[in-house]
Amino acid sequence: MGNILKIYTPPHEGLSKKCEPIKVVSEEIRKLAQDMLATMYAAPGVGLAAPQVGHNICMFVIDVSEEGQNNQPLVMLNPRITWESDEERNYSEGCLSVPGVFAQITRPKRIKAEYMDLDGNTQTIEGDNLLATCIQHELDHLSGKLFIDRVSRLRRDMLLKKMNKHIKSNTSD
Ligand code: NI
Repeated sequence: MGNILKIYTPPHEGLSKKCEPIKVVSEEIRKLAQDMLATMYAAPGVGLAAPQVGHNICMFVIDVSEEGQNNQPLVMLNPRITWESDEERNYSEGCLSVPGVFAQITRPKRIKAEYMDLDGNTQTIEGDNLLATCIQHELDHLSGKLFIDRVSRLRRDMLLKKMNKHIKSNTSD
């Protein structure tokens, strides 16, 4: 079992920085992956990227299994998209770093990606719908981008206001 980590919210500067590729899968990286999974499940959420918990390295965890199914944790290091469909999908995205806020985001519906697993092996994955949306959302984090950066500036400001209200109302008891 891993530890629950603090999840940062904007304007935390690490959320808007480009992440560094991982060269060696060290014991620290493995431990961080366990902690990130524990943090994601506790939230609960379907994805969490390293910069959200204060580490600007190219790694994220995902689990898009449905309720009642066994967990299907996926840890992706140095991921990159190798193919994306022309067909798009519109989905109401949320993010553990932007609590209480959702926005319709359009992205390719189906993708192929390549990544390194925790054993240092190269893996490929093909996915559509929620898995594809989730991988693309997490990839954005690694280049310093949040889903609210994909809407107009006006709407982004509105969503940030809403987030701050949500955080306030959840911390003042
Ligand atoms: Ni996110």
